[in-house]
Amino acid sequence: MKKSFILILLTIFTACTVKLMPPAQSDVDRVSAKYPGYNLNELNEGKALFEQTCKRCHRLKNPASRNEDKWTKIVPSMINKLNKKEGKVVIDDKQQESILRYIITMNSAGKSTM
Ligand code: HEC
Repeated sequence: MKKSFILILLTIFTACTVKLMPPAQSDVDRVSAKYPGYNLNELNEGKALFEQTCKRCHRLKNPASRNEDKWTKIVPSMINKLNKKEGKVVIDDKQQESILRYIITMNSAGKSTM
């Protein structure tokens, strides 16, 4: 009885987790006009930062769930919340930009699944 309850909870939890597609060179190529010189390493760094940072207070949000305009406003506001809460700069401007670039790059992929 207890076991099956835990199993059900686990299933629900897993189903709610965002599955992030691993970034590919084609993702970098797609945004090369927007971000000249951007490379796959930087995109992966952005992904790692996004995963570490953006699940600190709530579940990770899907990059495809909002448009570029929204993300450009939301990300700085979230980083601001975090730095205020911690009373120090946890994520600096450069790291914030890295997270934003990752989200916007993967957002335009239209293949990120919930
Ligand atoms: C310090 C805690 C904290 C961190 C870290 C944080 N968030 Fe949030 N987030 C919140 C809270 C609280 C809300 C709900 C209130 C609000 O919308 O401001 C929220 C709401 C949101 C929403 C819904 C807001 C809307 O207007 O649709 C999105 C999207 C979001 N967060 C994305 C992110 C991303 C991306 C990151 C990483 C860059 C992040 N969050 C990091 C606390 C946080």
